[in-house]
Amino acid sequence: MKKELKFPEGFLWGAATSSYQVEGGIDNCNWSKDFPAGKACDYWNRYEQYFDEAKKLNQGVHRLSLEWSRIEPEEGKFNREAIEHYKKMLIALRGRGIKTMVTLWHFTEPIWFSEKGGWANFEAPSHFQRFASFAAKELDEYVDFWITINEPGIFASHGYIIGKFPPRQKMRIVSCARAFWNFARAHKKAYRVVKEINSKAQVGMAENYSFTEALYGDPLSRFIVRIWDFARNRMLLEYTRKEQDFIGVNYYFHERVAWDVKYPFINIKNVDRTVSDLGTEIYSRGIYKVLKNLQKYNLPVYITENGLADKEDRFRGDFIRQHLRWVHKAISEGVSVKGYLHWSLLDNFEWADGYGPRFGLLEMDFEKIEYKVRPSALEYAAICKNNKLILEEK
Ligand code: BGC
Repeated sequence: MKKELKFPEGFLWGAATSSYQVEGGIDNCNWSKDFPAGKACDYWNRYEQYFDEAKKLNQGVHRLSLEWSRIEPEEGKFNREAIEHYKKMLIALRGRGIKTMVTLWHFTEPIWFSEKGGWANFEAPSHFQRFASFAAKELDEYVDFWITINEPGIFASHGYIIGKFPPRQKMRIVSCARAFWNFARAHKKAYRVVKEINSKAQVGMAENYSFTEALYGDPLSRFIVRIWDFARNRMLLEYTRKEQDFIGVNYYFHERVAWDVKYPFINIKNVDRTVSDLGTEIYSRGIYKVLKNLQKYNLPVYITENGLADKEDRFRGDFIRQHLRWVHKAISEGVSVKGYLHWSLLDNFEWADGYGPRFGLLEMDFEKIEYKVRPSALEYAAICKNNKLILEEK
């Protein structure tokens, strides 16, 4: 039996990217030395070709990020050529009838900023504000949605606790807390400067939300879940709620928290469930739980990222359908979800994991810088075109 799930009129369908992961030729940022991305997808030069492809796939919104290290390579000195180039990119999207979602900070920053102590430095928000103000003045008329900061919680924990991301520090709890706090301040400052330039601008933040549940039903585990869930998913939002025109949700996985000697406080990998190439469990119901938990903020929500590493494209089509089924349920229960952007349009540089994990709707050959359209991209394109999801039910 077939079941059709119609999405609201004007729902936006698209895909997301970020500068360092796709552009190529970025050698002046915090990742360049330890994790060089080389030419990546050469998106900097070939953006028209990728935008044509997005258009063919019926996408109506595209998310990209501005590379701060290109735009402000030296402190206080802005590079005209770089900003003009981004302007051209945004015009190229608009010219194809594609709305633009622009992230100001997606894990990368100029070296001069890192040398001053990066996000742990209390002056970081002011530096970021200057950059945000310049970008907004130059680009405002070409931007439909602004995202100030991408996944501050992930960057703070990976940069200062786990040590996987720059500045690659481990267990620096104070620096992590300072970075987190500075991200929140930076968001508020950037929000205000963008709004000063255009009071109608739509500005939000994209955070990585997880659905957290207790593995066991004991009271201690349940209590830990509540604390963890607040710190991980709500604290930042509570603090910045007045400065969010919409909530940007990046959803990838859920976490099971347990308090026991073997697994204190963990994200257990369930080998008996379908997993992505990076080992994360595919758990589509989690996106519904995340959305329902955000309902009380009464703000529009965009799914700014959702995807999986799946080189062989075995699960992606079904992954998209199952997640959208739950998104649709959340909408039918009153959550104001306005759009869905898949991560990612194309395979790209997956940060500390390099070019191994493949998240793209387009499959890249990084040697030749050529791509093929994955079958799941066509399945997604049909959903985008019809604004509805067709499910085969047994
Ligand atoms: C990030 C992306 C990343 C994706 C897949 C998100 O946390 O915003 O840059 O590629 O997850 O791991």
